[in-house]
Amino acid sequence: MTLTIAVDGPAASGKGTIGRALAARFGLGYLDTGLLYRAVGRRMLDGEDPVAAARALRAADLEAEGLRGPEAAEAASKVAAIPEVRAALVDFQRAFATREGGAVLDGRDIGTVICPDAPVKLFVTAAAETRAARRFRELAAGGHATSFDEVLADIRARDARDAGRTDAPMCAAGDAVRIDTTELDVAAAVTRAVAEVEARHPGCGAG
Ligand code: CDP
Repeated sequence: MTLTIAVDGPAASGKGTIGRALAARFGLGYLDTGLLYRAVGRRMLDGEDPVAAARALRAADLEAEGLRGPEAAEAASKVAAIPEVRAALVDFQRAFATREGGAVLDGRDIGTVICPDAPVKLFVTAAAETRAARRFRELAAGGHATSFDEVLADIRARDARDAGRTDAPMCAAGDAVRIDTTELDVAAAVTRAVAEVEARHPGCGAG
């Protein structure tokens, strides 16, 4: 059976770091599903209809400049509330999830909607202030002119929109393991996630 790991959680909770580390540790493919919504958001900012953009999304769109920035994040969470946009992205995500060799997907609805049968589901959280501090450092390192207060306000607004939408709202699956990274550094968070995977999927730890 192929191993699929679903990693969900709010903005800048550390799910991408954990997802990438798990993929490397267990030799799985990795998909940052937020990038799909960011790419659609980017195309909307460029004047396209978001539903048409989602239906026509190409691999090259995922390499567009500025996708990691706050403007694309805000646009992503707006297009992510449109059911037709989400529907257009489902098949690609499910195909990735069931690829030979296994996969880790990180997002908001992986354990609840995209891969409800995933044998391992993690829901990664952290205090909003901690998440804002991490994201502020990342953005500052990437040359974005912003302030901590602005980043915190953006994250809170985006979390509220993501958790409050009707279609596939951000929430932990009933069978997800919660990992709060507020007090954990990267190494400790990854160690915890690896232990959870090994406990739920014995045998995948070899190697
Ligand atoms: O990196 P960060 O956690 O800040 O955001 P992201 O994972 O890149 O996601 C950007 C936005 O895309 C989120 O705020 C959600 O609105 C949306 N998204 C979603 O709705 N469903 C997913 N599976 C992934 C992202």
